[in-house]
Amino acid sequence: MATAVPCAIVIFGASGDLSQLKLVPAIYELAREKLLADNFVLVGYARSREKKDGTPLNDETYRKDCYEAIKKNARHKPVDEAVWKKMEPNIFYVAGGYDSSDDHARLASVLNRLDKSHDTGGNRLFYISTPPDAFEGIIERLGERRQQHETEHPGSWERIIIEKPFGRDLASARHLNDVLHKFWDEKQVFRIDHYLGKETVQNLLVMRFANSIFEPIWNYKYIDHVQITVSETLSADDRAGYYDKSGAMRDMIQNHIFQLMALVAMEPPSALDATSIRDEKVKVYKSVRPIRAESAEACCVRGQYGAGEYDNKGKKVPTPGYRNARGVAPGSTTETFAAVKLLIDNWRWSGTPFYIRTGKVLATKLSEVVVRFRSPPMTLFQKQCASPVYPNDLLIRVQPEEGISWRLNGKVPGGAMNIKPVALDMSYKTTFNVEPPEAYERLIYDAILGDQTLFIRGDEAEAAWTVIDPIEEYWARSKTPPQEYAPGTWGPKKAMDLIELDGRRWLQGSDVDEPIVACSL
Ligand code: BG6
Repeated sequence: MATAVPCAIVIFGASGDLSQLKLVPAIYELAREKLLADNFVLVGYARSREKKDGTPLNDETYRKDCYEAIKKNARHKPVDEAVWKKMEPNIFYVAGGYDSSDDHARLASVLNRLDKSHDTGGNRLFYISTPPDAFEGIIERLGERRQQHETEHPGSWERIIIEKPFGRDLASARHLNDVLHKFWDEKQVFRIDHYLGKETVQNLLVMRFANSIFEPIWNYKYIDHVQITVSETLSADDRAGYYDKSGAMRDMIQNHIFQLMALVAMEPPSALDATSIRDEKVKVYKSVRPIRAESAEACCVRGQYGAGEYDNKGKKVPTPGYRNARGVAPGSTTETFAAVKLLIDNWRWSGTPFYIRTGKVLATKLSEVVVRFRSPPMTLFQKQCASPVYPNDLLIRVQPEEGISWRLNGKVPGGAMNIKPVALDMSYKTTFNVEPPEAYERLIYDAILGDQTLFIRGDEAEAAWTVIDPIEEYWARSKTPPQEYAPGTWGPKKAMDLIELDGRRWLQGSDVDEPIVACSL
């Protein structure tokens, strides 16, 4: 991969968690891999003028914070001091209001000065990683300077990355798109969904379209249903300020899980470019059967965790239950678990349901797509076979242990006709012998190159909200509160009913036989 052209990366929300946990470490990893020019510049921008302990925030203290963030959170440890020594003097901090024209003018003059000292050519990547209520002000203030910037720096580029959530419903997403498009061309806008930067998610496209065996069977005739599970063990106790206004449906399903669903369900694009791929994803959302109030109770489930213990990296941690967590509104009906059954009414998927679920403090952390094929005709085995014959599954593990596993049936050696599920297992780590890069590394690099393939287009975000809005509206009106579930389980009982009443079951957390791993590829 080529070294990107020099530019200034400006992180709005520089003192926030995401910046320290993911963004700064990702930028360091890119520098380590020599994918960033030596003279790239990183400017942290936030409202804080000092840290919680009263230490003033300035270039020097921000550099120290970046070093600590890299030391703790970078993929490669220990820190490569030679890389850090090169990077350190290129890091700066600007304190300012997100919506303040004066402070943005000050930022612009810092960037202009850095253009001269670091030869960054006026190229800017603005990364908006602030609380959502600050998005609009930043977009507008930056936008107002666009004309002047173009005059002063002909031939340079400016791009804007926007963190999720992109709106909280269709109307607010439309409004945000309108604000963006007042100043920015869609080609300059990079709506980020870090799931698209995950290696296995990208591999979904390769698996589906670089192998001829899948296309003929990738449809309702052969596929019984698809399950997508994104389960987390952590609680939302510490993020109530954001989470209580969002909930699992907005936080995870509208974006991350829908991206997985769209990549599984989309038609082959005419090219592997941003426009062709995103066109196909939009068609998927537009084909989802709208959830009507009459059917919402039967096909959407919301849950909320009660008091108990959950797993935090192997340690048992108590929670008072979501409603009793600090910052959660009394009597909150925000869901910490959501499951939904969706039907995609197009020629490929008509009649094949997609079951989706996600939640906090669940039994285990995993993100997985299971494609369950239709059962073979049973008459052949019914009489002689004591063991059940499971249908074939294709399991796409996004995390942990990224990989793909085919579950087939095999005969257990011996006189009797006994059948056991066996797995052909491809693990990323052992097959390619490399650790996949962090999603943010890939995405920041792509944004600097101007490649939008792994980012969400404006109409795509709106189309996804079109599916979610009726469910949220139904829940807002519903008198039935979310069903409580115990931490460390697979969610509320109703989530089991959602799939079991259709004669199917969740393939994680159910009593399905673990297959024998027949072949580790
Ligand atoms: C974020 C959500 O977008 O994704 C969080 O806001 C969630 O609530 C996180 O925990 C999950 O990401 P990952 O990569 O750990 O699956």
